[in-house]
Formats: sequence, structure tokens, C-alpha cells
Amino acid sequence: MLKAVILIGGPQKGTRFRPLSFEVPKPLFPVAGVPMLQHHIEACAQVPDMKEIILTGFFQPNDELNRFISSAQQEFKIQIRYLQEFAALGTGGGIYHFRDQILSGGPAAFFLMNADVCSEFPLQEMLRFHRQHGENHCGVLLGTTVLHFVEKPSTFVSDIISCGIYLFTPDIFGHIGNIFQRNQQERIQEELTNGKQMPEVIRLEQDIFTTLAGQKKLFVYKTQHFWSQIKSAGSAIYASRLYLKQYHKTHPERLATNQDGTPKIIGVTIGGGVRVRESIVLHGAVLQDHCCVLNSIVGWDSTVGKWARVEGTPSDPNPNDPYAKIDSETLFRDGGLTPSITILGCNVNIPSEVIIRNSIVLPHKDLNRSFQNQIIL
Ligand code: GTP
Repeated sequence: MLKAVILIGGPQKGTRFRPLSFEVPKPLFPVAGVPMLQHHIEACAQVPDMKEIILTGFFQPNDELNRFISSAQQEFKIQIRYLQEFAALGTGGGIYHFRDQILSGGPAAFFLMNADVCSEFPLQEMLRFHRQHGENHCGVLLGTTVLHFVEKPSTFVSDIISCGIYLFTPDIFGHIGNIFQRNQQERIQEELTNGKQMPEVIRLEQDIFTTLAGQKKLFVYKTQHFWSQIKSAGSAIYASRLYLKQYHKTHPERLATNQDGTPKIIGVTIGGGVRVRESIVLHGAVLQDHCCVLNSIVGWDSTVGKWARVEGTPSDPNPNDPYAKIDSETLFRDGGLTPSITILGCNVNIPSEVIIRNSIVLPHKDLNRSFQNQIIL
């Protein structure tokens, strides 16, 4: 029997996703028409012998999460539970805290996934790879190739990065336990000598994997399939594009067609002569006649007036590089806002005939003129 755990983080995470993460927890933000997390759940539900999916995070239980869990349970016919950490315990600390729940029922192995990645999730390939490599390891890490430049490296620098998708045997908890004990002693020592309270965080990548790699207990399974992180709102547009392309193979019914009477637009109002490209338009938005929306996210219930232009700058990786991965752009560079996609928070009103370019507009704003390269508070 198998299980899966998805790390969904909490309210302090997803800061680069503001103001959109004010309205909905980032893992539920729609990517290619469905909540980000649904792509993970769909992939898990297709793995034979998968019994349960556990979401761990430090969000207070909330209506949106509960609604999402119950509808996903029905749609994918699989048990899904949310386990709340009392504080952010780190990517390794959370699973260690809930180890009894993860191991209940005796799974032979479990998948662990970061919520903020988009991927083809080659879970069954990882499972085959894991079984081919015998008993003497405690995990498989999904890796992908990147091209990056390191000037005069003094040690070996790999071109493979971790995708934040893993397969572990129950033995992993023994290793995390050892680190937990060691950290615990260091924390007590620190508290006694300096009176400083250190957080109880265990990070999988830095604290656990470095030790395991040294003991040859981890394998890397390299994937050629698409993968990207979803850190900034701009990367949600990029991730949407990757999933929409995949829908041609996996879910053609989710894509619009050009037959008579179609496409049927649901949930948003689009006027005549409107142009939308490389953008996400959220529920309740109104795009009035002849407006133009490019490289932007239009928030829930926002309105773009007639002949207005809402435009951003894409932060896509190099399209000519097959292994390009999206960069995590910082919001500011050299004292200015990095040119990026335009984001309209929820309930924003853009009047007719203005231009909003490379800007972030916070929720509930009624703009009265054009803006460029600004955060409108
Ligand atoms: P950032 O650039 O700071 O986001 O770091 P990162 O890319 O290394 O990501 P990080 O390791 O912080 O997070 C990876 C995934 O784990 C994300 O989906 C987070 O939401 C989630 N996550 C991070 N910290 C915690 C935690 O303490 N508990 C839980 N349950 N999830 C977490």
C-alpha cells in the first residue's frame, strides 16, 4: 500500500504571490483552470494501490480548504486529510511530527511533494525506479536538468536540481529522528548558554539529504518531463501554459474548441473585440469591449474598462533552451520594481481607455488614470 503527503505551507509562505494569496491560500490558486494542488492529487489518484493523501501545513483549517478537500475526495475517489502543524516545522519537521499518521496502515512507501511545483508527476516511473534499486536505500528524489553558470567553481557543481517530489520508505523517519535528536541537544545547549530559543525546524534538503547522500541512501531519478516551480504570480502563468499544453493529451475536454456556438465562456464576462493573451482571468471578472489584457492576472470581480490596456512583461525562461527553468525573480532590483506581469487584486476597477503596465494593484482599488511600473496601494 502507498500514501502521499503534500506540503502546503501556510499563511506566512507565498509572499511573492501577494496580493493574490490574500484571497485564497496559494496552494488553491487556479493554474490551468483548477486549484494548483489538484494536479498533484490527480497524479496520486492514478497510482495503483494509493490509499490516502495527507496535506500538511500550518494554515488554520478554513472553508476553502475544506470545500476543496471534500470535492477532490469525491472526484478522485481517494481519502484526503489535512493535518495542521502547530507552527511551521519545516519541510522535514512536519512529516516527522505526523509520522504515526503517515505510517498507519503500514505503507511500503510514500510520496512527498511540494505544493508549489508544476510537473507531469511521473510517480509511477519513480516507483518502478525505486523497486529496481533494491532495499538498501530510503528514498528517490526526482531531479531535472538546468543550465546555470557558476564562475570558476571550486567543487563539482551538478546541473541537476531537485524537483521537490520524492518517494520515501518508512526508514526515512529513522534518519530524520537522528537529526531531530541532534538538533534538540543543540537547542537545549543554545538556550542554556545564550538564553535564545531556537525554532524547532527541520529542513529536508539542507538537514536530511546532505547526510543521506553521504551515506548513499538516496537515488536521483532524472526526468525529461516538464517541471517548474510556482513561486511568483508570473510563474503561475508559465505553469498554466505547461499544463494547458499537456491537456491536449490528458484532458482535451477541458480545452475550448472553435466549433459553432463555442467557446463557451463560464464565470467571467468578456465583451466584444477583447484581446486576452498569456493571462489568467479569475472568476467574476468583467473585460469590457475592446480592452486588451496581456501577460497579466485579473483578480476576482475586477473590471477592465472599454479600450483599456492591462499589460505586463513575461518572466518566462529562454524559449530556445529545452532545459530552461523559470527564475525566482525578486520584486525589486536596483531600487525599482522588476518589470514583471501585471497583477490586479480582487475587485479592482480599471476605467476606460487607460494603460496599466508592469504594475501590481492591491485589492479594492478604483483607479482613475494610467500607471506604469508601480505598486498601487
Ligand atoms: P522559498 O524560496 O522560501 O519558497 O524556499 P523553497 O523554494 O526552498 O521552498 P520551501 O522549501 O520553503 O518550501 C517547499 C514547499 O514546502 C512549499 O510548497 C511550501 O509551502 C512547503 N513548506 C515550507 N515550509 C513548510 C513547513 O514548515 N511545513 C509545511 N507543511 N510545508 C512547508
